[in-house]
Amino acid sequence: MAEDPTNLQGRAGLPDDLLFLLRKYPRQEWQAHENVHGMASFWLQRHAMFRDLGGLLTTAIGDYREGQTTAPEFANFFAPRLQFFLGQLDGHHNVEDQHYFPVFARVEARLKRGFDILDGDHHTIHDALEANAESANGFLNALQESQDKQRFAADAYADQNTRLVAMLARHLDDEEDLIIPLILDRGDRELGIG
Ligand SMILES: [Fe+2]
Ligand SMILES: [Fe+2]
Repeated sequence: MAEDPTNLQGRAGLPDDLLFLLRKYPRQEWQAHENVHGMASFWLQRHAMFRDLGGLLTTAIGDYREGQTTAPEFANFFAPRLQFFLGQLDGHHNVEDQHYFPVFARVEARLKRGFDILDGDHHTIHDALEANAESANGFLNALQESQDKQRFAADAYADQNTRLVAMLARHLDDEEDLIIPLILDRGDRELGIG
């Protein structure tokens, strides 16, 4: 059975017919292209920041679960970073949906379906962010309680976070595959984003 491209947790990438520009501009050539300076670089940097922060949060949970940090140490480190991560991600998606995706879809109508898929991803991720914030709160509250309760909440939260980080990684890769080749092909000025 063909994989469902709208299923962020099940797909291995965007459908082939949306990747014609990626075939023209393969990932390993992006950094050497003259049009990478400007919006493309900015985009890649934002995504790198989300990947780094996601990794940092995952590592912090792992360290706590292995007993390398105490509950208060963990909470002090984790809570503000999680809040920053969730807020930045939400803002980033809003700008993409409301500003950039409509512009890109107008310029290259053949990629319209791709931007619809990415827009759908944002909703999926948004729901996961809300679930994440809820179980994070449950977890942080449980740090005041018994060891058993802490462990249970830590497990629930770690699962939730692993799921979110995996979805986000898939989305960031796919979004770059669609957007960066388009920017390299047309340049910021032609796209009206420079
Ligand atoms: Fe996105
Ligand atoms: Fe993005």
